[in-house]
Amino acid sequence: MTKDMLLWDETIFRNGEVLELDYLPEYFAHRDSQMQALKFSLRPAMRGMRPVNCLVRGPPGTGKTTAVQKVFNEMKEHTENVVFAKINCQIDSTRFAVVSRIYEKLVNIKPPTSGVAFRKLFEKVLKQLVDSNKILVVALDDINYLFHEGHADEVMYSLLRAHEQYPGVKVSVIAIISDVGTSYNFDPRVGSVFLPEEINFPRYGPDEIRDIIRNRIQHAFFQNVVPDEVCERIVEYVSTTGDLRVGIDLLRRSGLNAERRASRTISIEDVEKAYDASRLIYLCRSIRSLSEHERTLLGLIAKGGDLQTGDLYKSFHELTGLGYTRFYEIIEKMNSSQFLDADFSGKGMRGRTRVIKARYAPQDILKCLE
Ligand SMILES: Nc1ncnc2c1ncn2[C@@H]1O[C@H](COP(=O)(O)OP(=O)(O)OP(=O)(O)O)[C@@H](O)[C@H]1O
Ligand SMILES: [Mg+2]
Repeated sequence: MTKDMLLWDETIFRNGEVLELDYLPEYFAHRDSQMQALKFSLRPAMRGMRPVNCLVRGPPGTGKTTAVQKVFNEMKEHTENVVFAKINCQIDSTRFAVVSRIYEKLVNIKPPTSGVAFRKLFEKVLKQLVDSNKILVVALDDINYLFHEGHADEVMYSLLRAHEQYPGVKVSVIAIISDVGTSYNFDPRVGSVFLPEEINFPRYGPDEIRDIIRNRIQHAFFQNVVPDEVCERIVEYVSTTGDLRVGIDLLRRSGLNAERRASRTISIEDVEKAYDASRLIYLCRSIRSLSEHERTLLGLIAKGGDLQTGDLYKSFHELTGLGYTRFYEIIEKMNSSQFLDADFSGKGMRGRTRVIKARYAPQDILKCLE
């Protein structure tokens, strides 16, 4: 056995936890101006005033969620009078779910899941805020998902007009949008009360990516596990996708690949092997958030190529037993998110038939559906 071989009870990971996707990094560089802007908007809350609303936007994996979480954590240490609620709209995608989550943050008890109307629960939240003289800051993270479900405007509207319903209440909203090529617009009625400070998170440049990745390597692995050329390859891959998550996932997977062959160092091949899975990280994350029926439909489209609506419906109905109305609703929803292109083809006997295509490579979709 050579000294390059890893013994069965040894590991190359110093601290693998820092490569988990929900890990909140201590080192968070290259986002100073965005952090400043966030703090500046929220600062009035420290003096008992309603904070400025914010619209945070940028491509996937550019540090939006991390920045907001870090600012929340920092401010929490300095005030008792502000309630910070970060809502993951991928999980809580209805008005009721959002308000339940806020209620939970406020009183530390989960509200009943049934038998309560949204209005009632919302009023409880507002009353509690006024009685305790607290200010509420709500971050709607990945608000894209509220748009997909058609709930974005009503959620925003309820929160932003809360003071009309309950005088004295102070609520501000941070809407976080992940830019994936779909444009999301609020209803003008929401726009006129939202009036946000816009904070943009552009893609990181290669030097910034290198710096962040290097720092993560230092924390995650023992010394000399990741040669420079391997680090460079990862930086290249992150640069092409612009998503830092791909880089962090690549580090984790290529590290595991190296361990599997009992190597003390990660090789370029370990990275190449890992990239096949890591590059799909965003797609897989989005697909995981779909309902079972939506996933079924996406699978049919990926397998079938360019399908006419009628044929697609037939297969869908056979698998799920669902009727045309529900089928059509799902198509509409997935068309407004980033999954489908449902184009009118101009053909067809009655009216115009739609051809439905997936926006991602079918084999990638099928891989994520596995
Ligand atoms: N400046 C940075 N320094 C260190 N790590 C970073 C930085 N920016 C992002 N990351 C890391 O990259 C990953 C993605 O960041 P984050 O989740 O904040 O992105 P996001 O902009 O919210 O993406 P999405 O739009 O997909 O939700 C996280 O694991 C985070 O730790
Ligand atoms: Mg995010």
